[in-house]
Amino acid sequence: MKSIIVSMTVAAGLMIAGSAMATDMPPAAQKNNCTACHAIDKKLVGPAWMEVSKKYKGDAGAEARLITKVSKGGSGNWGSMPMPANDPAGKKRADMQALVQFILGLAK
Ligand code: HEC
Repeated sequence: MKSIIVSMTVAAGLMIAGSAMATDMPPAAQKNNCTACHAIDKKLVGPAWMEVSKKYKGDAGAEARLITKVSKGGSGNWGSMPMPANDPAGKKRADMQALVQFILGLAK
């Protein structure tokens, strides 16, 4: 009986840890306002980042293309709703690259 309670507690703990990890947006996503339109595991205005990650899994050119897309904005890959430019002047490239790498790493 004791071991059942222990394993249930462990399982519940893992579920909580798992969901916290799955929904944590990196600080750069908050700083750059990505969180206004994106979540990791559900569609908001833009697609869930987990879905983005799955779509481009194994696509070697995706990182460079997505950095440009996030910086300059655009539409058509997920619907007609456009994403506005998040870094039109190219001043936050390091942030954009880190965020795209974070997104692409989600589905691995
Ligand atoms: C005003 C809302 C909005 C904000 C802010 C926003 N996005 Fe988006 N995002 C969208 C929409 C809408 C799409 C779907 C565009 C399409 O269909 O091609 C999208 C698509 C994407 C995609 C997939 C692009 C593709 O071509 O498949 C990535 C990656 C992404 N966003 C990352 C980000 C990052 C990183 C930030 C913050 C720097 C950000 N987004 C901020 C609305 C937003």
